[in-house]
This record gives sequence, structure tokens and C-alpha cells, in this order.
Amino acid sequence: MKTYALVLAAGKGTRMKTEMPKCAFPLLKKPMIEYIIESLEKSSIDEIITVVGHKKEVFEELLGNRVKYAFQKEQLGTGNAVLCAEYLIKEEGQTIIIPGDTPLIDLEIINNLLGVHKEENNDITIGTINLDNPFGFGRILRNEAGKIVKIIEEKDATLEQKLVNEINTGLYCIGNKMLFEALKQVKPTNNKGEYYLTDIIEILSSKANIGSFTIKETYKLNGINDLYTLSKVESSLRHDINKKHMINGVNIINSNTVTIAPSVIIDEGVTICQGSIITGDTVIKKGSIIGPYSEVHNSLIEENVIVKQSVIYDSKVSTGATVGPFSHLRVNSVVGVNDRIGNFVEMKNSTLGEKTNVAHLTYIGDCTCGDNVNWGCGTVTVNYDGHKKSPTKIGNNVFIGCNTNLVAPIEVGNDSFIAAGSTITESIGDGDFVIGRSRSIIKKGYANKFKNK
Ligand code: UD1
Ligand code: CA
Repeated sequence: MKTYALVLAAGKGTRMKTEMPKCAFPLLKKPMIEYIIESLEKSSIDEIITVVGHKKEVFEELLGNRVKYAFQKEQLGTGNAVLCAEYLIKEEGQTIIIPGDTPLIDLEIINNLLGVHKEENNDITIGTINLDNPFGFGRILRNEAGKIVKIIEEKDATLEQKLVNEINTGLYCIGNKMLFEALKQVKPTNNKGEYYLTDIIEILSSKANIGSFTIKETYKLNGINDLYTLSKVESSLRHDINKKHMINGVNIINSNTVTIAPSVIIDEGVTICQGSIITGDTVIKKGSIIGPYSEVHNSLIEENVIVKQSVIYDSKVSTGATVGPFSHLRVNSVVGVNDRIGNFVEMKNSTLGEKTNVAHLTYIGDCTCGDNVNWGCGTVTVNYDGHKKSPTKIGNNVFIGCNTNLVAPIEVGNDSFIAAGSTITESIGDGDFVIGRSRSIIKKGYANKFKNK
């Protein structure tokens, strides 16, 4: 028997008031739908189907062939969205349905849902949470025996029904045959004129065994309909992630101001200072200090590294190196062991060897550089001629004087020396000394005359 997962992501997300379709909107820099798909991929689900419609190409681009797609032409409601996937789902087997705007559903919740469904021998199992302010959500209506008999949407609820705090999270597990039989009976006779998936509960209540399960961390199943809710969910998520790291021995200073994405791995003995944002597949090793006010995304920070007020994307900083304040590393840059990258240095697609110093005001692009090189203040790899990018190769033990332009493509040999203010247009051999600037002219005692002219 196959278990399917059906993720509903065809809606516009009108309440978000953003260009981007809601389920692709980022939470801690990662599209919401990716969280869901990642959790599903870790689970025992056999097949993942995503219902797409509004801006479907955004989802196809994001998810590629990790999922199957069902297309909902018109957004006629959640019930219609599920029907659009019927042709991809075999009658035998069961399906878990997940709204694409509930990104924090995790493996534990999925297993919980499947577990309760099986153990209680339910025909339908619904994920519910209790919210102090349930406004906007479908309310769970139970009979006197406590059995779920109906879900009523906010817009159709009476004042009394609106007082119910238990809400439908939009997460269900149900047998396929029953699902599609019931869906065909759903009519758009409600205040929104939509085909509500939730109506199947009332349709099936007399003959089906309807169960539920609930979780305490309500933010994980709190559907995100607008940017305010997104921010509230993000803040709860951030709090829980920071807490986990602090208990694991990560020193987070002023943790309310620190953002760490769920995918980030941090060793004990790391310090994260205020105002830092660490996201993507970042790994930070023991003894490193990040921040204050630094952004690290998809990067490896090895042991005992210091990163101050800097931005690091898709790069690696090796053991013992220091970066910043105010440095910018991006696109596969590699800082070597014990290197020093100082103020206003930008590195792009470049690799530095060990004990190399780039202390100030330098651009390093498309460059491979060896060990023990001194980059003088204001050095620029001139890697772009207006048409194409060219590489720069620098050996070991090179001294580059201040304000040097290295016009690429160019190679600089080991143990060479470049005098300050040089613009170098040809490659330099091992041990060479090069000076590429015009001589200064000194007119003895002329200064005062010049000033008074
Ligand atoms: C839905 C539930 C509500 C529940 C809430 C939980 C219904 C009728 N209501 O309301 O009981 O409390 O979720 O968060 O199901 N979608 C489509 N096609 C459509 C309409 C929606 O794919 O035609 C997708 C959306 O992209 C979204 C999900 O289904 O990811 C839920 O739709 P949304 O409009 O957010 O439903 P809610 O009003 O939040
Ligand atoms: Ca929603």
C-alpha cells in the first residue's frame, strides 16, 4: 500500500500582498515549500505530489524533479486542488495532505500523523492546534462525545463557533478511495464560493472514524497567510533554534538579535555575537567567533576563526583566519589557514594559501594565490575587461606593494616583489622585482612658489 503526500501550493496567497507566490516565499532565506519537501523526503512517504497553479514555473524551478506536479488551472478551493491530483493517485493506499503554507511541519509531525492514523485505525486523522487567537482558521467542531463532526471556516462560522480555539491545521491523513468519493460530493455553497476540502469531514462524519492529533509547539503548524504571521512564526522558530544551540554549548550573545536557520550546524564552543544572521548549509567549527553584525550563508567556517561585521556567502574560511571588520567574501572564495582578511576587502571566486595577509581595501576576483603573500592596501585584480573575466595566479611569498593593479590574465611567480603603485600587465617570473609606475619629478623648493601662483 502506497502512502502519498499531496502538498497544496496552487493558491496566489492574496493576503501576503507580495509578488512571489506564497508557498515559495522565503522563511529564513529558504522558500517555505522547500522545508516541507525536505521533511517529506526524510519520511517513509512513497510519492510526493505538489499541486501548482498560480506561477507554477516558480515551483518547477525550485523543486525540479523532486516531486510530481498536478496542475490546478483555476484556484477554486482546497477541495478542487486535491481533486486535480486524483489522476496521479491510485485508489488503494493513503494520502497525507499538507498545505504549502505550513512550512515547519517536520519529520516528527509526519510520523506522528501516520502513527496515530494507524494505531487508532482511523479513516481520517486531522492535525489540530489550539490557538489563543484562532481568527481566520477553520474551527474543529466536536459532538458531545468529543468526536469531530465538522470543520467550519471563519467566514461561515457563527459567533459561538468562532469561540472554538481548536483549529484545523489543514494536515490530514486519509484513505484514497474515501477521499475522492467524498470530494466529489463537495459543493461550493459557502461564503467564499469555493470547493472546501474541509467539507469532506461533515460528509464522512456519520460513517468514518475521524481522529486527530495535536502538538504543543503551535507555531509549527500555524498556516502562514500574511507577512505578520510569517514574522511571528519566524520569531518562534528562531527562539527554538537559538535555545537548542545554547543548550548545546554555543554562546549566543543577545540572542534575540541573532538569526540562525534550521539547517546550520554549529559546534560547541562557538560564540555568535549580536546582530548576526547565519543561514543555508553553513557549518561553524569549535572556537570560532562570529559577529557582531555578520551574515554567513552556505559557508564553512573552520576552527578558531574570527569574523567581524562581515558578509560571507558560499565560501570557506580556514582554521585560525580572521575576517573583517567589513569584508565581503562570495562565490566559492577560500580563505587559507591563519590568513588575515581586513577592512573593505572583497573576495570573489578566489583561493588564498596559508598565512596570507590582505589587510585593507582590496579586490580579489578569479584569483589563485599561494602562501605567505602580502597584499598591500588598495590592490586590485583587474579581472574584467568589459567582455570577459580573466584569472590571476600568484605564487608563494610574494610581496605586493600598495595600490597595485594586476591586469588579468596574469601570473606572478614565487618570491617576487611588486613595488607600490604599479600597474602590471605582463606575467612576472619567480624572484623578479617589478616596478610599473612613472617616476616622480622633484622640483627643489618650488612648493611655495607654486602655492602663490
Ligand atoms: C485552510 C483550511 C482551514 C485551515 C487552514 C490551516 C480550507 C477550506 N480551509 O484555510 O480550515 O484552518 O487552511 O492553515 O481548506 N490552495 C490551492 N488551491 C486553491 C486554494 C488553496 O492549492 O484553490 C492551497 C494554497 O496555496 C495553500 C493551501 O492550499 O497553500 C491552503 O489554502 P489557503 O487559502 O491558505 O487556506 P486557508 O484559508 O488558510
Ligand atoms: Ca492558509
